[in-house]
Amino acid sequence: MGGSHVDQVPGISANHAMDELLENLQSPDRCLEMDGSELREVLETVLRRLIPHVDSFDTQLAWEPPQAGARPDGSLPNDSSDWEGVIRELFEDHLFPAYNPASGGYMAYVPGGGLLHSAVADLIANAVNRYVTVWQAAPRLAELEAEVVDWFRQLAGLPDTGGGYLTTGGSLANWSAVVTARACRLPEDFLDGMIYTSDQAHYSAIRAARMAGFPAGNIQVVESDAEYRVSLDLLQQRIEEDRQSGRRPFLVVGHAGTTNTGAVDDLLELARICQQQDLWFHVDAAYGGAFLLTGRGRALLQGIEQADSVTLDPHKGMFLPYGTGCLLVRDRQDLHRAHAVDVDYMPEMQDDPYRVDICQISPELSRECRGLRVWLPVKIHGLGAFENYLDEKLDLAQFAARELETIPGIQILAPPQLSILAFRLAPEGLDMEALNEVNREFLERINRATQRCFLSPTSLNGVFSIRICIIVFRTHLEHVQHCIDVIRQAAAELLADR
Ligand SMILES: Cc1ncc(COP(=O)(O)O)c(C=O)c1O
Repeated sequence: MGGSHVDQVPGISANHAMDELLENLQSPDRCLEMDGSELREVLETVLRRLIPHVDSFDTQLAWEPPQAGARPDGSLPNDSSDWEGVIRELFEDHLFPAYNPASGGYMAYVPGGGLLHSAVADLIANAVNRYVTVWQAAPRLAELEAEVVDWFRQLAGLPDTGGGYLTTGGSLANWSAVVTARACRLPEDFLDGMIYTSDQAHYSAIRAARMAGFPAGNIQVVESDAEYRVSLDLLQQRIEEDRQSGRRPFLVVGHAGTTNTGAVDDLLELARICQQQDLWFHVDAAYGGAFLLTGRGRALLQGIEQADSVTLDPHKGMFLPYGTGCLLVRDRQDLHRAHAVDVDYMPEMQDDPYRVDICQISPELSRECRGLRVWLPVKIHGLGAFENYLDEKLDLAQFAARELETIPGIQILAPPQLSILAFRLAPEGLDMEALNEVNREFLERINRATQRCFLSPTSLNGVFSIRICIIVFRTHLEHVQHCIDVIRQAAAELLADR
């Protein structure tokens, strides 16, 4: 009966005798199993391209306008190719044009930089391919990752009941924070729960709330003050109004460095309000959190240590390549409450708080050993090196602001609280719409002048504003000086053309 069933499956026949099967199995395809000498050869091929790329970071453009390549013909890549050719194609056809956050002239958006140490760490992590989200599957690497998270917990000043895990970025950390707050503060039927943040919030906080199941009407976007910090009076007013109308306030998302201007909310006051009102206090420190390594950052971010949860983003302020964020919580049991599920087919999970099963405190199961890409550069250089680089970025932002003040027609819209500032050109006699148009043109001229400095725009209360964000570790005085020279010249030309 079983034999006749097999007979009907194309390609498998009863006549496919055991000895034929065994013969086939004697000589399987092993081409995917790279051995050590092939790996060395491949790495040499890659390094012949990668090393000149790395050595030219300083002369590479900070950005190029986007341009699509030839559309693929859609055929499946069934044939093999040689390494030399494929790596050549990658380096020659796919790396450029691009925005180049690895270059010192990149001061747009919130870039990272991409420590090469972490690239080496990723190579090792992927080559050994350990399963780190279950403690017993790779105890020492799981402990290494937990150690990295604990460094961050200490940095944020959270108590030793705290914990956390490494995410792929700030957006995912914000989402997991909202899910955790929801699980810990609201009943299963949570649709009357209200979330509060500022009009300067990164959109990932709003998306996090939506992805956690809250309709848009459950998210109160509270206006910010003249320094782009959330207005505490308006926040309290909204909370009060919502309570009176029978809604259930449960979460405030504060900011330790907004994306637009780097503004730091009054975290001490926010913590006090949250405590008084019994609300979960989340701090989005994706941009600003790394500055906790500096004395100035610690002073400005006071109050973060009272948060229930904190988003950090080491692929920004700790200069890692993209792919590493972090969520910290004040009580690690809260992450467990929100994420843990027990099933029969998994290995036994740990009770000991120092043996972290990452899969029980996060939404991911199979993933790379993310901790290694933080651990390796920190072990090699120590946190002091990061502090020095971050202090330099704070100084560079102050330098940029002072230089901008000397350029005729420039108005500083947001002086640096950390390492972001915003400005515009404000010739007299123009209404807001005309000024916005002038500044669109101004930014275009700045970015196109040499393509060795790249800035990005934002809107501050409807005002088209140009941001400088200094956080790439390769950005030094010469890059900022060049940027200022470009701005000075573009401003003079634009004013002369009018
Ligand atoms: C304040 C803030 N929060 C969250 C994010 C999102 O982080 P990611 O891009 O790592 O998802 C950003 C990104 O720039 C940010 O500036």
